[in-house]
Amino acid sequence: MKKFAVAALLMASSLAYADRSVDELYPKTCGVCHEAGVAGAPKHGDAAAWKLRFDAKGGLDGLLASVKNGLNAMPPKAMCMDCTDGEYKALIEHMMKPAG
Ligand code: HEC
Repeated sequence: MKKFAVAALLMASSLAYADRSVDELYPKTCGVCHEAGVAGAPKHGDAAAWKLRFDAKGGLDGLLASVKNGLNAMPPKAMCMDCTDGEYKALIEHMMKPAG
């Protein structure tokens, strides 16, 4: 447990923007729900739906807080137990981009 805490601390403090690639993380985590829009999740590529949420939460940091705390059908940490803030932000930005 102690080892884990140290590792988590190290990971958090050495935070660069997105350590692992979106391509690696997305299919196993956010994509499970956001690709098809499960349980009302805003869909990957639905730029209009994402913009409404982005504006309502005051930007990327507000959305990040929802992901970490969970929101209705989205569990806290959103199925990525070891994602860094930078990784979460990269994943959100990936889903916000218009499809095609
Ligand atoms: C178990 C399904 C599920 C997974 C996995 C999931 N989400 Fe979600 N997500 C949802 C649902 C459902 C909503 C809509 C919640 C609502 O507004 O009721 C949502 C909403 C969001 C929102 C909008 C929050 C807001 O404040 O409006 C963001 C940002 C988000 N998800 C990011 C992510 C990211 C990033 C990941 C991957 C790390 C992820 N989600 C994984 C189901 C999921």
